[in-house]
Amino acid sequence: MATQIGTPVSRVDGHAKVTGAAKYAGEFNVPGLAYGALVTSTIAKGRIARIDASKALGVEGVIAVLTHENRPKMADDDRSYKDDVAPEGSPFRPLYNANILFSGQPIALVLAEEWEIARFAASLVTVDYERQTPVTDLYRERNQAFTLEGDAFAMSLAKPRSDARKAFAASDVRHQADYFIPVEHHNPMELYAATVIWEGGGKLTVYDKTQGVQNVQRYLCGVFGLKSENVRVLSPFAGGAFGSGLRPEFEAPLAVLGALAMKRSVRLVLTRQQMYALCYRPATIENLAIGAKSDGTLEAMMHEATAMTSRHEAFARNDTTWSGALYKCPNAKYSHKLVRLDLPTPCDMRAPGAATGVYGLESAMDELALALDIDPLELRYRSYCDRDQNEDLPFTSNELRECYRQGAKAFGWEKRKPEPRSMREGKELIGWGMATGVWEALQMEFAARITLTANGHAEVSCATSDIGTGTYTIMTQVAADMLGLPPESISIKLGDSSLPHSPVEGGSWTAASVSHAIANAAHDVRAELFDLAVKVPASPLAGLTFDDATVGEGMFVSKEDSSRAVPFADAMRHAGRDRIEHERSTDFKDVSNCARNVHSAIFAEVKVDEELGVIRVTRVVSAVAAGRILNPKTAHSQIMGSVVWGIGMALHEESLIDHRFGRFMNANIAEYHIPTNADIYDIKVIFVDERDAIINPLGIKGVGEIGIVGVAAAIANAVYHATGKRVRDLPITLDKLQL
Ligand code: MOS
Repeated sequence: MATQIGTPVSRVDGHAKVTGAAKYAGEFNVPGLAYGALVTSTIAKGRIARIDASKALGVEGVIAVLTHENRPKMADDDRSYKDDVAPEGSPFRPLYNANILFSGQPIALVLAEEWEIARFAASLVTVDYERQTPVTDLYRERNQAFTLEGDAFAMSLAKPRSDARKAFAASDVRHQADYFIPVEHHNPMELYAATVIWEGGGKLTVYDKTQGVQNVQRYLCGVFGLKSENVRVLSPFAGGAFGSGLRPEFEAPLAVLGALAMKRSVRLVLTRQQMYALCYRPATIENLAIGAKSDGTLEAMMHEATAMTSRHEAFARNDTTWSGALYKCPNAKYSHKLVRLDLPTPCDMRAPGAATGVYGLESAMDELALALDIDPLELRYRSYCDRDQNEDLPFTSNELRECYRQGAKAFGWEKRKPEPRSMREGKELIGWGMATGVWEALQMEFAARITLTANGHAEVSCATSDIGTGTYTIMTQVAADMLGLPPESISIKLGDSSLPHSPVEGGSWTAASVSHAIANAAHDVRAELFDLAVKVPASPLAGLTFDDATVGEGMFVSKEDSSRAVPFADAMRHAGRDRIEHERSTDFKDVSNCARNVHSAIFAEVKVDEELGVIRVTRVVSAVAAGRILNPKTAHSQIMGSVVWGIGMALHEESLIDHRFGRFMNANIAEYHIPTNADIYDIKVIFVDERDAIINPLGIKGVGEIGIVGVAAAIANAVYHATGKRVRDLPITLDKLQL
């Protein structure tokens, strides 16, 4: 019955997106909309001594200037500000009091009849501060780091195995080094925006740029003490997010604050510069120590990550435990340390933890291979492990070996000359590098509702988001197959807090989760429909059981004899039904007795101009094993996009802090470099066939984040192979290469 699942269907929302019919949070219009603009702090630490808004208020068209002194009431306990994915600590409260926690903190909201007026008036607000000296340098504060234990860790920290320190000291060949990933900002195309519609009667409709409408809804109710039936949050489309929309950011609460203050609809769109004060990937030092026997057998794996967080929250992700899980190694040790700095709280960004930690691991493995004089791919084969080493569990499925094999073949790895600087073309040095990628195959509790109407149309709804990943499309495909309807007869509703339960869209868990909620709801729809179908007068299906029949082309059909069929419309008409509706949740079986991961092998070619040091990533092959691929076209785009971000991580992206002011200096996309079309050459994506009968009934593991993990290491390893220069601090820029 699968005619849609597994086929490269084009995006069902593609037309709406390219024609501009798809509306984003800042594009919903209502009469009487007021516009907000932020005043943000120019210091990183201290207090507001005085805010003078009189000049701003004198501008024609300005309605109000809200500060901590005159704002409407907000909750005064930490708990009310905790969202579903908040780390341990005390969440930042916008416009709450006079304290300044980071540079760029919103300190006033100017509301005006026009956006330009609001923005101009914001420039007239003057602020006196009591300044304190901010501390924002991770390296300088490294010795102040504290070690995270237990609950502080959002993902579990695996236990050490045996005595890794001793085993490392006794190893024939040892490699130990620090690898550094700087602060990176998500920079999604769509700016942070919220449009709050004042519905009257105490009701608010909030269009927000978010990855989790129900998370934002709960947060707003908590912060403003609103009843949940009075707040509806919508996000039908999101112009990229990459993790930046997982937590409620301050555009939504501030727009609500303005709406409550004025009893009027409000829009707040942040500027690109202001978005740098929201959230970011924390700069992290990854210390790797790997010991091996001279034949390449790993003896010890130690990984210590030291990452930055804010003073007020302890954000951390699993950087380290991939190291001991991935390769056969009897002794392993991990620790995760945090340094508190006067910065906003970091947040999830593009495979949080793995993108950074595996960069360290896979760079270190390359250096170890070199020290052992073993081909880097051969070292991965020699240390290959069929079980998760941390928990000593089998995988639900794991085709990593096939990723290596197919990736290497497609890339032509066997033609690689091992010595650095041994391959060239004209004045360019050629380098080939590889790395492994790994991510968790996560699945969460989701619910979906299907409403089938007698005209043969089904509406499928879930509160989840589509952050550009293709969720609308895969939901359509799954529903079409499960209901036996053509995709044109399916419509999807999502991104609305009033719809059935969904956590934030993150962790690459949405495809597996929402698909199973749909499959379960569709089962119930089919069961009810079948009962009606056998009751049709002189039913061709009479005498059959539910399992004897299947669905297709809007009909129930006997599996044995396709001439025996009852159209859904007939079944419903005879029963006098105009709709059949069922809502179900995922109800996943417990699979905690297995390790659940997706894997990849990345092969990269760089060409480095020997005179100028300019690096081009001319070829990338990414071979991914991620269970059943629902849609090879959207999945391919996901991996391609992730590889592009991996190239950005390796060569371009870096948010630089001026530690004197505790401020991001390159807070714009002119100076925060991201890959552009001219930086991207050939990217080949291979999906390795991976059947998984254990993880969930459809064998779906999810793609997205797996595409970035390992890419930066493969490129850094290729740069070394090309040049003989090892740059461990990302991004690899000309100045660091100095050929
Ligand atoms: Mo992802 S960084 O969980 O949006």
